[in-house]
Amino acid sequence: MGKVIPEIYDALMAPLERIKFRSIRQFLIQKAEGKVLEIGSGTGLNFPYYTKAEAVTAVEPNPVMLRKSIKRIKAAQVPIEAIQADAQKLPFSDDSFDMIVGTLVFCTIPHPDIALKELRRVLKAHGTLLVFEHVRLDQPTAAKMQKWVTPVWKRMCDGCHLDRNTLANIKNSGMTIEQVHKYNSGLFLAIQAKN
Ligand SMILES: C[S@@+](CC[C@H](N)C(=O)[O-])C[C@H]1O[C@@H](n2cnc3c(N)ncnc32)[C@H](O)[C@@H]1O
Repeated sequence: MGKVIPEIYDALMAPLERIKFRSIRQFLIQKAEGKVLEIGSGTGLNFPYYTKAEAVTAVEPNPVMLRKSIKRIKAAQVPIEAIQADAQKLPFSDDSFDMIVGTLVFCTIPHPDIALKELRRVLKAHGTLLVFEHVRLDQPTAAKMQKWVTPVWKRMCDGCHLDRNTLANIKNSGMTIEQVHKYNSGLFLAIQAKN
């Protein structure tokens, strides 16, 4: 995993955060309650929006991202612990969490199917998954373009795929979809699913 993108991630994201993402994060994250796991927490852009969680455990494989999230951990309204770990191999026992949060992360995880299996394992029965992702578009020409661009994009953006069908992946993992909110003609989805 690269070092350049993590160093400039907050600056790169700032315009999108201002225009769109901040309000989506707030909408999704304020739902998180009980013992919460956040996967691929990056620089901690979600951390300010946790208000009801009893405690948040954040996992992030990139040490630069992890280091950059420390200031947001200190400023958070709820207790947050961040550790270096991979969502595909979580260092937690079965049924450890009430809710799991993932934002802009299923585009980058090498094997989302393996990660979803892990999430289901550590999430309690009937526990909730809250996800915000950019996804493959339904419109066939647009989806084809996303597929063509992905090999180059992936190299430039630390493994980010533009053509992931995350909603289908969550359904295929066996979880039950409870809510889907579409933004920008379905380019971005906020998804709530139940284990
Ligand atoms: C686009 S960033 C999103 C960061 C943050 N979730 C946000 O919303 O700003 C993608 C993140 O996924 C992390 N990531 C990549 N592979 C991962 C994996 N296998 N398990 C957990 N996180 C992963 C990256 O290190 C990076 O922090």
